[in-house]
Amino acid sequence: MIGSPRVHHRVTDSTNERAKELALAGAPHGTLATADEQTAGRGRQGRVWTAPPRTAVLMSVVLRELDELLPLAAALAVADAVHADATIKWPNDIWIGGRKVAGILVEGRPQEGWAVLGIGVNVGTERFPEELTESATSLRLVGRAASTEDVLRDVLSSLDAWLGAPPARVLAAWRERDALKGERVRWSGGEGVANGIDDLGALVVETPAGQVSLDAGEVHLLR
Ligand code: BTN
Repeated sequence: MIGSPRVHHRVTDSTNERAKELALAGAPHGTLATADEQTAGRGRQGRVWTAPPRTAVLMSVVLRELDELLPLAAALAVADAVHADATIKWPNDIWIGGRKVAGILVEGRPQEGWAVLGIGVNVGTERFPEELTESATSLRLVGRAASTEDVLRDVLSSLDAWLGAPPARVLAAWRERDALKGERVRWSGGEGVANGIDDLGALVVETPAGQVSLDAGEVHLLR
C-alpha cells in the first residue's frame, strides 16, 4: 500500500532526500516521507521548490515497482486527487485554471530497482511571491478548502489506483487532462503546436519541419 510506513518530519531539507535514505536502507515499496516544511525543497530542472510551513503537501514515496509511465501515472493520480478541473502540463505539472498547483520530481536509481516520487501540492497558500503570482495557485485559491492531511490522503489513494495501472488506461486518462494539446509551445530546440503524447509518453509537437517527439526536458506554453 502506498503511504505505509510513514515517517513525518516537522522540518527537513527535502523529503526526497529522506525517502532516498529510506530506500537505500531497504525500506519497502510505498514507504512515505512527509514534512511540514522543507528548507531545500527541490524542483525539476535544478529549480527550488518553496512553500510556507504547513500550507503544502510535501511528500516523497519510495517505489520499487517501476515502469516507463511512472511520471505520467503519478501526474494523473495527483490531478485526479486534487480537483475535477485539474489539467496536466507535460510531463507532470498539475495546473488549475492555467496556473500550477502541484509539481512532481522523480529521482532515484531505476537500474537498482528503486525510485523516489516527490510531490508538492499547494493547499492553503493564500499569497505567492510576486514572481509566482501569475503562474502559481493553491487549492484554497481555487475554492477547495481542505487540510494538507485530507489532500495527502486523497493523493495516496489515487496513487494506489493509478501506479501500475494498465498503460492504455493511464494514457487515455492522461490525454483527457492534457493542458498543452493544440497549444503553441517552445522548447530549447524550437517551437510548434503540441499534439498530445505518444504511447511512450513523449510529447508530440508539430513544427514547420515536421513532427518532433520530446521525451525529456521542459516546454513553455506560448500565450
Ligand atoms: C517541480 O514542479 O519542479 C517539482 C516539484 C517537486 C516538489 C516536491 S515537494 C516534496 C518533494 N521534495 C522535494 O524536495 N521536492 C519534491
